[in-house]
Amino acid sequence: MVSVIDAIYNRRSIRRFEQTKIPESILEKLVDCGRLAPSAANLQPIEYIVIDREDVCQMVFPALRWAAYIHPQGIPKEGERPVAYIIVLINTEKTTLGVQHDTGAAIENILLAAYEEGIGSCWIGSIEREVLKTILKVPDHCQIDSVIALGYPLESPVVEEMRDSIRYWKDDTGILHVPKRPLKDILHKNIYRT
Ligand SMILES: Cc1cc2nc3c(=O)[nH]c(=O)nc-3n(C[C@H](O)[C@H](O)[C@H](O)COP(=O)(O)O)c2cc1C
Repeated sequence: MVSVIDAIYNRRSIRRFEQTKIPESILEKLVDCGRLAPSAANLQPIEYIVIDREDVCQMVFPALRWAAYIHPQGIPKEGERPVAYIIVLINTEKTTLGVQHDTGAAIENILLAAYEEGIGSCWIGSIEREVLKTILKVPDHCQIDSVIALGYPLESPVVEEMRDSIRYWKDDTGILHVPKRPLKDILHKNIYRT
């Protein structure tokens, strides 16, 4: 059993996927984990479209942009593309205030729950939104916030302590390295220390 803290430490953005279907019950469970996230004033403006049909996945893929720092190396190749997506929508009839906090909390819940299920994920914010809205028939009162790409992982990226740059990179063996700012640089105790 993966602990929450294990999941937080070990979840990484995955951009290479096995072509094995994810059971529908697991995809529903992931959305349920989003549903239960904190929500400002409990207004709950988020709705979701789950996509797991191959033909729809194929239509969604071209509307997404991948791993800008290592372009075009980070774009999932044919045969390694996501097998499912969760489209995260904001229903603007519910609220537009503070919605990015709500979506952030819900999406992180989904990514961590996916990790526990052995599923790799990538949070995608760089989206051709109008194109995707048309493909998925999203009504005008809903905005596309993010897309979560999903599939069983075919890569194991590693975290490293950031030195000079925040840019993630791939080494000669194809392993993705993800620099994170060191704890000592971001943790201030009792007073802000410069
Ligand atoms: C709001 C947001 C938008 C993102 N958009 C994209 C994206 O459009 N394409 C992509 O490949 N990754 C995207 N990512 C994933 C980040 O590149 C990734 O989280 C970052 O490099 C750190 O790696 P990690 O998730 O493995 O810790 C996004 C992440 C966040 C939080």
